[in-house]
Amino acid sequence: MRAQSVIAAAAVLAIGAYASRAAFASSPLQDPEGKAPYAENCRKCHGVRGVPPKTMKTKYPKIATFDAAFFEKHSKDSVVKILTKGKNDDMKSFKEKLTHEEMERVADYIRSFVKTDK
Ligand code: HEC
Repeated sequence: MRAQSVIAAAAVLAIGAYASRAAFASSPLQDPEGKAPYAENCRKCHGVRGVPPKTMKTKYPKIATFDAAFFEKHSKDSVVKILTKGKNDDMKSFKEKLTHEEMERVADYIRSFVKTDK
């Protein structure tokens, strides 16, 4: 009996967490889905449109600029992989902060900075 109610409570919590996440994901704003997680987690270092501010370039000389040349070398999958694993000391893993889906949305979003017509 006791074990059953514990399982039931866990299920309720899990559903609740899922529902609030879903509600957040479908916010009424028309912004691309990756914009909010980008603003929250990446913008301070990588800049509003993927060009790091000077202060960050000085602090992290190796920081990436998300321009056309960058995306010639980095697929969406490779970006997701970097977000999952991190790179060197300053580009941390985001696996505690972002779900895999959010990483994919952020990867799509940074790619949109350089989207051309082709
Ligand atoms: C504390 C500052 C900081 C934050 C916050 C940050 N980055 Fe970075 N990022 C860096 C630095 C520094 C590098 C360069 C790492 C290196 O090559 O040593 C980098 C590199 C990258 C690269 C290129 C890695 C490669 O293979 O060359 C990608 C893609 C990237 N960041 C995406 C993101 C995304 C998306 C976010 C937000 C979820 C984010 N970063 C948050 C500092 C940051």
